[in-house]
Amino acid sequence: MTQAASTASPPVGGGGTYAFTDHDFQIIANRAQADFGLHLTLAKKDLAYSRLTKRLRALGLADFNSYCRLIETEDGAEERMQMLSALTTNVTHFFREDHHFRTLREQVLPPLIASARAGGRVRLWSAGCSAGQEPYSLAFTLLGLCPEAAKLDIRILATDVDPVIIAKAKAGIYDNDELKSLPDTAKAQHVTDMGGGRFAIGAKARELISFGELNLMQDWPIKGPFDVIFCRNVAIYFDKDTQSRLWSRFAELLPAGGYLCIGHSERVAGPASTRLETVGVTTYRKSQAGTADRTAKPKEGLSR
Ligand SMILES: C[S@@+](CC[C@H](N)C(=O)[O-])C[C@H]1O[C@@H](n2cnc3c(N)ncnc32)[C@H](O)[C@@H]1O
Repeated sequence: MTQAASTASPPVGGGGTYAFTDHDFQIIANRAQADFGLHLTLAKKDLAYSRLTKRLRALGLADFNSYCRLIETEDGAEERMQMLSALTTNVTHFFREDHHFRTLREQVLPPLIASARAGGRVRLWSAGCSAGQEPYSLAFTLLGLCPEAAKLDIRILATDVDPVIIAKAKAGIYDNDELKSLPDTAKAQHVTDMGGGRFAIGAKARELISFGELNLMQDWPIKGPFDVIFCRNVAIYFDKDTQSRLWSRFAELLPAGGYLCIGHSERVAGPASTRLETVGVTTYRKSQAGTADRTAKPKEGLSR
């Protein structure tokens, strides 16, 4: 990203009334990059303006210069999270990019379930899980093949950096609109009508999943290994180097033969591409030569 000149620019986006200079934008972009790996070029200035004006309004601030001063202070930690929420999108739905769930059903899960039935440990991770539709779709797929999954050592870890969205995921309560992409069979088996247009995910799926807050840019209090990692439509916000480091960190946590599924507009690149081979659309498998200690015990923290 080029350093932008600190010229005052008229407010843009939604007819707002807050002064927002290129210099203000650069402070926000640098902070978002350092804390969350977000890649914001000057071309995103209008978007940043329209997404963040509601924060200025909520905080009663007069201009972006005051907002920048806030996020640069120690007390600004909470606002930095709000800023991330405003700058990224939580868009998701049940069985999004459903070819991944088909691959799981047909190729990936049957041998893993056989291994779990023989006493093995199986772990799946939904990294950047947003409001939970992705890990619940994983749980439904798993339960379709293995109704007794909760009695075996099979668990799903679901994490997101956004505390508000992870609380919604954990609650597992959705409205009619959010359930649109859920097939009727899954609805009948796993969803309870609570009345008032609210629907709750049933205990069988919920007990398979541990939800937790995790910023993918920081240390991970988890060791793995994970047999399957879903990190879809998250890395799209990151610059190439950050993406590349992320793929390598995932590769470390996969055993040989483990799978990584990423979003439709993302591609594994950098050093990890020698260890992760393409086996389907945005589906990668760690080559047998690559190693992860499958016997490693999970660290205390988010892993179960
Ligand atoms: C567009 S949603 C994708 C949800 C789901 N994986 C899917 O494909 O439907 C992107 C999610 O990534 C999360 N995210 C963004 N930056 C992150 C970071 N640094 N660490 C962890 N999660 C992050 C956001 O909070 C958001 O919930």
